[in-house]
Order: sequence, then C-alpha cells, then structure tokens
Amino acid sequence: MAKAQKVQQGQEIVPRLLQKLSQRLFDDPAEQAAFIQAMTTPQPFLPSLLWVGEKPDPAPFDTAAPVAWQPNFVDRLLTETRPGRHPLHQQGEFYCLDFSSVFAATVLLHLDRPVQVALDMCAAPGGKSIFAWKALQPTTLISNEVIGKRLGALISNLKRCHISAAPISFDPSELATVLPQVADVVLVDAPCSGQSLLAKGEKNPGCFHPVTIGKNANRQKRILANAAQTVAPQGFLAYMTCTYAIEENEQVSEWLLERFPQFQAVEIPALSAYRSRLTDLPCYRMFPQMGLGAGAFTILLQNRESSISREMTECGLATFLQANSRLSETGRSKATLSAKDGIS
Ligand SMILES: C[S@@+](CC[C@H](N)C(=O)[O-])C[C@H]1O[C@@H](n2cnc3c(N)ncnc32)[C@H](O)[C@@H]1O
Repeated sequence: MAKAQKVQQGQEIVPRLLQKLSQRLFDDPAEQAAFIQAMTTPQPFLPSLLWVGEKPDPAPFDTAAPVAWQPNFVDRLLTETRPGRHPLHQQGEFYCLDFSSVFAATVLLHLDRPVQVALDMCAAPGGKSIFAWKALQPTTLISNEVIGKRLGALISNLKRCHISAAPISFDPSELATVLPQVADVVLVDAPCSGQSLLAKGEKNPGCFHPVTIGKNANRQKRILANAAQTVAPQGFLAYMTCTYAIEENEQVSEWLLERFPQFQAVEIPALSAYRSRLTDLPCYRMFPQMGLGAGAFTILLQNRESSISREMTECGLATFLQANSRLSETGRSKATLSAKDGIS
C-alpha cells in the first residue's frame, strides 16, 4: 500500500490529507495550525460522568466548573480518577462518556415538547440512549443496535443504569417499515470515519481518505433516510458524528433536507458559539483545540408535517417491543418481521 503523503510544517511532519482538511475547516492559519497540533500531539481530555440518578451530596469526585451549555446532570472530572472503579459506577448511578458526546447529545435539551417515544437508531454501547432517557424521560425508549455482537454491551449498560429501555436489533430499513412515524425523537449517532479518535491518541488508519469518507457518508445517508421515516409529524431527528469531514456532517445534512423537505434544521441558541461556518444550516461542531473533547458534529431537525393520527397505535408499538425485546434479552435472533407485525 502506498505511504500517506506527508508535508513539513514547522518541526512537524503532517499527513497531507490532514493538512488539506484543516484548510477546508478553517480560514485562519492559526486555527489550522491549532487543529493540526491537537490531532498530531493528542492531549488528554477530562472524563465526564452522566448522573443517572440524583447527584450525591457530597460529590464523590472533584469536578471542573461547568461550561455554559453543560447539562446539570453531567460532571467533568478534574483528574483521571478511574471513575469506572468507584462503587457508584457498579450500582449504575453514573455512566462515563466523552464530553464530545455530551456536546452532541445536548441538542436533545432543546425540544419544545414532551417526548413519549424516543428511538435511538445506532445505540451501542448506550451513552446517547442513557442521555436521552435522563434528558427526556420518554414513556418508551427504544435502543436499536444493528450489529448483533454490540448488543451485549448495550443491554448490560442499560441494565446496570436501571434504564427501562427496549433493546432491539434491526437494520434501519426494517424499522422504517415497521415503525412508521412512531417516534417523537429519533437519534442517529452515526457510524462515521471517526477522525476524532486521533485527537484522543487512538489509531484510525485511512480516516482522512476520500474513499473512507465517501463510504461513511453514503452509509449515513441510508441510515438517515430510513430514520426520517420513523419520525412522527412535529417530531425531531438528531444526527451526530464524531468526525470532522464535511462530506459526512454538513453535506449529509444538506442532502437529507433536500430529500425530505418536510424537515427543517432547528437553531440551538445555547450552542451558537459552536455554529459550523461550513454551511448555512444551523449545525454545531466541537473541535479538539477547544480543549473540551476530541470533537463532534451535531444537528437537530424537525419534521414540520402537521400533526395527524399516528400510523401505529401505542398498543401496536407495545406488542412489537414485547415480542422483540424478549428475544434480544435471551440473545436469540430477532423476530421475523413483516410490515404487518405490531401494526394495528
Ligand atoms: C457512534 S456508534 C454509536 C454510539 C452510541 N450511540 C453511544 O452513544 O454509546 C455507531 C453505532 O452504529 C452502529 N452501526 C454500524 N453500521 C450501522 C448501520 N448500517 N445502521 C445502523 N447502525 C449501524 C455501530 O454498530 C455502532 O454501534
């Protein structure tokens, strides 16, 4: 395989594709350099905790002062204190997640109506599902993970944190058929090229390559096109990734809105300082040089179709979930679906 091209920048040898990305993301050369620096010499980010129950008093960990948009049920720890080893972790009192994930999921705090049904389309290992449960308190939380071998971690995290979600395992295309316009909010924390892993010091070869980015963008479009069909009229679709590529993120969002013109992007004033300058749409980015997390992209869309009675009744949904969550908990294969399953 040909070696990735590199260019000299100061003392650093920078992969050419990273250099090009930095120039597309930022006009200011100082910002470009700060981004490249953050990617090539990763610094640790403070770990964060999502408190599922009440925050204990006194606090068991030293925490950093909250940033303006930080949900009150999230703490950033001042030091790497191995929170996963604390007894409260085993008791399911908190879930550890990256602050970038908190940033991406924060759009969920800006829905203008109560949520009955929340559907997490790409749920494993469960961080955003647990966030959605805590932030929205939905009557029904459906946590879907299509990759069977990732379902175990999802179920175990939901159980440990005492989240009464229904874990299921379907391809998004199947859910588009069997759960039409069912959910008040659908989360798509999409599989992506994962470029932000580098800012955490992890390896992700090929993550800047156009082929990798193109494949991920297409997969995201397919997932989102199916997810859009599960959103109830006036409901919301939250799309997020942990990568920086514009062909994923902004261009996928623009594609989605052209394909589904009934959706509109929702402005999140609390995140205005993070607004992407790479599109006219209101969408938001965190970059590693900001010092809070490795990076994320997030956008909230609303289905502006006027309210009509839902195609699936509550009873139909309950029957569908009962049949399928029973199967996923025993680890056996899912129920065979047909369009009529669970729909009254
Ligand atoms: C970024 S991760 C989700 C992380 C999770 N939301 C959390 O906060 O813990 C993306 C997930 O999408 C799943 N995935 C991969 N291919 C998919 C596809 N074609 N359709 C739906 N989900 C897919 C992956 O298995 C992975 O669990």
